[in-house]
Amino acid sequence: MTRVTLVLEKEGEKQLEYKSKIMIVDDDQTMKSSLLEWFESENYHVYGASSGEEAIEKISDGSFNIIITDLKMPGIDGLELLRYVKREHHNIEVIIMTAYGTVETAVNAMKEGAYDYVVKPFSPEEIDMVVKKIINHQSLIRENILLKEQLHELHRFESLIGKSSKMQDIYALIENIAPSNITVLIQGESGTGKELLARAIHNSSLRKEYPFITVSCGALPETILESELFGHEKGAFTGAITRKEGRFEMADKGTLFLDEIADMSQKSQVDLLRVLQEKEFRRVGGTELIKVDVRIIAATNKDLDKEVGEKRFRDDLYYRLHVTPINLPPLRDRHEDIPLLIKHFLEIYNKEYEREVRDVSPAAFNLLLQFSWPGNVRELEHVIEHSILMTRGDTIREENLPDKLKRTSNMNAEGDFLDIENESLKDRVEQFEKQSIIKALQNARGVKKKAASILGISPRNLSYFIKKYNM
Ligand SMILES: Nc1ncnc2c1ncn2[C@@H]1O[C@H](COP(=O)(O)OP(=O)(O)OP(=O)(O)O)[C@@H](O)[C@H]1O
Ligand SMILES: [Mg+2]
Repeated sequence: MTRVTLVLEKEGEKQLEYKSKIMIVDDDQTMKSSLLEWFESENYHVYGASSGEEAIEKISDGSFNIIITDLKMPGIDGLELLRYVKREHHNIEVIIMTAYGTVETAVNAMKEGAYDYVVKPFSPEEIDMVVKKIINHQSLIRENILLKEQLHELHRFESLIGKSSKMQDIYALIENIAPSNITVLIQGESGTGKELLARAIHNSSLRKEYPFITVSCGALPETILESELFGHEKGAFTGAITRKEGRFEMADKGTLFLDEIADMSQKSQVDLLRVLQEKEFRRVGGTELIKVDVRIIAATNKDLDKEVGEKRFRDDLYYRLHVTPINLPPLRDRHEDIPLLIKHFLEIYNKEYEREVRDVSPAAFNLLLQFSWPGNVRELEHVIEHSILMTRGDTIREENLPDKLKRTSNMNAEGDFLDIENESLKDRVEQFEKQSIIKALQNARGVKKKAASILGISPRNLSYFIKKYNM
């Protein structure tokens, strides 16, 4: 049974396997043997030493966590042993055993870093309590380190989530190329995280204190794109009532993200190529040559190689951009990232909608894992957002998921959904949602709070639907 919460529980299991190793140091053989016997019977890994010297020798060939030592011993005594341990192996905790008359020395030992002391005669249970306290303390520290490492792994590049080997390769590549000014071309299907990756590169680079500027090259007509990229002078064309800085200038010392690069017109491609080659340009209607220092990251969801082959994209521009290509794999090729992404989006949307949906039922989880995700991470994000709003308790169940996830029989041979089926299904779900809301609002005589309670959702969610359907 796989559940999202298992992601962290796995680490917990690792910790249970971990056993503490204890050393008992005393020149009094009877004392040492009886303690050894008692701790062994309690299933501890326990070792003995009859002197400070023997203890030091043993410490270096075994990874001990706790040392329980007598204070008064011939040769290296307890205090000296403590000093050695704190100097050379500061993670080992030391408990001092002391006779009634030497309590004061034991207190001094605590000032030198001993964890605690016990006064002879003591019961084994008494010393065991201290041992348990140390083990707890040490496992908390370990847990913290593990969590920190995990967090570091997960958030190595801001919120770019993923632990699949494909994503790991990309992280390694970012680390290598981010500090340089090398041009990057990101290719990947829609919703795979191209913009997020571009931002991650910028934020890991030496340019991170300077702007990250985006241009959607495909969304703008040729003439507007030109003035967007290079700016224009006052009066350059009708409507140019003031001088305007272009995106190249805005991105000076920072990064310019050229999105949807394959959708640029031929003329824009020529303009862009010229700037990339000469690193200077003129504003539209201007004469002054402007020099800028920008790093270019381009992105496309098309196969740029094919676009070049079919003469829709200039090969000279392609080679300028294709210096470091990064291909973001579609989500269906890295299923192992899905649980982490679910967890990530649960956190984000619980916060945004003030909800406490913390888990996914096994059946729902399987559907999420099996789906082909034609819209990639963006689609998964929308599904989690939607499901949080549809969930009443703290667990997303099958019935809270959009129907498209349940209709696996509608997949084609490649595992992709047939769009027409999808559309009509989506329409039907929306129709149903709208009708339910209208009915509830009627029954509640327009009182939103009451309507929300009839529907079993929060007033905030109801407002979301009202806005969504323009009611
Ligand atoms: N690895 C990831 N970890 C966390 N969130 C991600 C990841 N990849 C994508 N996302 C999220 O998915 C959404 C889509 O990502 P983004 O806009 O970067 O995709 P894109 O490839 O640029 O898509 P398009 O081609 O449609 O422009 C964003 O909300 C982004 O935060
Ligand atoms: Mg994008």
